[in-house]
Amino acid sequence: MNTMKKLLILLIAFTSFSAVKANEGMWLVSLLNKMNEAEMKGLGLNLSAQDIYDINNASLKDAIVRLNYGQCTAEMISDQGLVLTNHHCAYDAIQTLAIQNGDDYLTKGFWAYEKNQEMPITDFVVSFLERIEDVSARVLEGIDHTTPEADRAALIAERSKAIMEESTNDGMYETEVKSFFYGNEFYLMVYKTFSDVRLVGNPPEAIGKFGGDTDNWMWPRHTGDFSMLRIYADANNNPAGYSDSNKPYAPKHHLPVSALGVEEGDYAMIMGYPGSTDRYLSSFGVKQAIDLANPAVVEVRDLKLKTMKSHMDEDPQVRLMYASKYAGVANYWKYFIGQTKGLKRLNVFGQKQDIERDFQQWANADEKRKDKYGSALKMMEDYYNATTPYVKADKYLLEAGITGADIVLKAWRMGNGIQISYDDEAKQFPADKLAGLKAQGEGSYSEYNEMLDKDLFVKVMTMYMKNIPPDQMPDIFKTINGKYKGNVQKFADKMYDKSIFANQENFDAFIAKPKMKTLSKDLAWQFANSVIALYRTGFGDADAVAYDQSYRLFVDGLRKMNPSKNYSPDANSTMRVTYGSVQDYFPADAKHYDYITTHKGILEKEDPSNPEFIVPGKLKELIEKEDFGGYADANGDLIVCFLTDNDITGGNSGSPVINGDGHLIGLAFDGNWEAMSGDIAFEPELQRTISVDIRYVLFIIDKFAGATNLIEEMDLVTERKTVLKEPALEMAPVEDEDIPMMD
Ligand code: ARG
Repeated sequence: MNTMKKLLILLIAFTSFSAVKANEGMWLVSLLNKMNEAEMKGLGLNLSAQDIYDINNASLKDAIVRLNYGQCTAEMISDQGLVLTNHHCAYDAIQTLAIQNGDDYLTKGFWAYEKNQEMPITDFVVSFLERIEDVSARVLEGIDHTTPEADRAALIAERSKAIMEESTNDGMYETEVKSFFYGNEFYLMVYKTFSDVRLVGNPPEAIGKFGGDTDNWMWPRHTGDFSMLRIYADANNNPAGYSDSNKPYAPKHHLPVSALGVEEGDYAMIMGYPGSTDRYLSSFGVKQAIDLANPAVVEVRDLKLKTMKSHMDEDPQVRLMYASKYAGVANYWKYFIGQTKGLKRLNVFGQKQDIERDFQQWANADEKRKDKYGSALKMMEDYYNATTPYVKADKYLLEAGITGADIVLKAWRMGNGIQISYDDEAKQFPADKLAGLKAQGEGSYSEYNEMLDKDLFVKVMTMYMKNIPPDQMPDIFKTINGKYKGNVQKFADKMYDKSIFANQENFDAFIAKPKMKTLSKDLAWQFANSVIALYRTGFGDADAVAYDQSYRLFVDGLRKMNPSKNYSPDANSTMRVTYGSVQDYFPADAKHYDYITTHKGILEKEDPSNPEFIVPGKLKELIEKEDFGGYADANGDLIVCFLTDNDITGGNSGSPVINGDGHLIGLAFDGNWEAMSGDIAFEPELQRTISVDIRYVLFIIDKFAGATNLIEEMDLVTERKTVLKEPALEMAPVEDEDIPMMD
């Protein structure tokens, strides 16, 4: 074998080795370094880091948008403001429009065949990232590990505020200074936010949420989890509130859509807004999650789901009103069940202990290091020990007390509105303020059912009383235990009968005769104040500052201990890139999962008696006739979903899966069951991103919905032309026949 060939093989071996570990990491889009770039090119990227993020020229980042401040991600797919995201990201908006128009778009789907049929969505925003700037030096100037924690916090807050204020360009931009690596680095994010956003199309739930909660967080998957929106702007292409005269927004960049399909090993990159991960969580934190936090969340949610479902099953109108709330509760109910399982099965506790042992040794090996980092882990352990007795009460407070029955947050928000509107001096409500309150009340009971809400309140509060020690309950329980003799039902009877916030009627009666005294005596208002006050003060006397300090030192030390390791920061709703490739996996001993699913699986799963597995007649007909309209693969199969080894989490929903040429090949929408502990520890062998294949999306739009108007707007790529820009050394073209010669 000649030397050139040996070199090539070495390089191939190296590339595939690095491919295995390349998949962990949600890299800040502006910070792709040499190491990242080499790995990306090794995996098949034909673009440069500058093609991905560039503040002077249009780049991929200009096609990626943040939905509702981090709830989800979406991407621009035409030069006319057309946006693609997940069905589950627009789910709440679709529900609201369905109720407003008395037309069940969740069940039936919705398509605008012309722009004037698109429906404006209220309270929905889309943000474009203008730029990112490292402001660590300025934020942390003169601060070191001896600075008292309170001073540090005050300085950081003050400087961040100044930076944010001076970067808005007279209010044109929204700005944030975000902490990275637990307060070790700070970056300024500058956004342009649009609020005239309209619904363009969504498939029926039987496609967009096919498989329902049974298939959620699982592979193999057959869900067409997509929907389409459009951004409108003023005559200058700038953000503006909804107006008839607004025009479709022209983005700086939109993604070409590749109809060429995916194959195992293909380069795959996902850009988006992952919300939060805990990759540096300590063994103490892992133990607390497994033993206390996760089970508490799951048991309350379990009860919430059963209670809601019993009412939703009775009445289709109630089902529609609560569809989105139910899906949200169910999503993280299942998530925490899976996370606990994964943490145990993969012995994440043990993995973390190993890291901590090494860290302590490293810290102790040098006097100066010992001084700075030596007590970080001890401080952390003390913090967890101090919080352990209260974890369950804390979770119940949030899950049952604050976000259980809707009346609680309604009372909190609207009660505060009433309080602010009152004119203390004139001792009355000014007419304009009263009109504002009235308007606020008008929309707010359209997705609320008093019977369901009351049942939910009684059930979760009864559970609360049973499972939480009396000295850890909010003060309002003194009233329930005293005046109502511990009978939650009696308290609820009175509260829902009399409270201003229990229904539209009561609220209107209050507006007709508003008095501050009525508010102060209101049981729902008292309840809300009590739970929120406790949530704010917290339980026990665990030193929350010690948490921040210990993690900041631990993460800083860890990075100094392994200077050659490329650590990525935890997700924090800022724009990240994850790169990897299309990959299958082995979920358990002797089991193998293919990396694609096809139309066949849709019919295999069909079950007309189960609402989660209904196949719409039109879709069934197209599949049976194999009428795939040119969107099938070379074998004639219609690919529905596929897997990649990218590193994503909640908030990434709706993110584009992009190939080596920067073209859209899929839409990320989920993670897989075997790696549900992935937010805490990434598992390269097991962790996969589940995406809907863009060809299935095109097929549904074109063949199922007949919305060819939307397809025509896109730049479809139907022929492979690989543009090789400055090929890296690893990219030296390898002839096919070279590979079998490896010996
Ligand atoms: N697990 C998905 C995520 O967190 C949400 C899927 C929504 N579908 C559902 N059946 N609840 O992004």
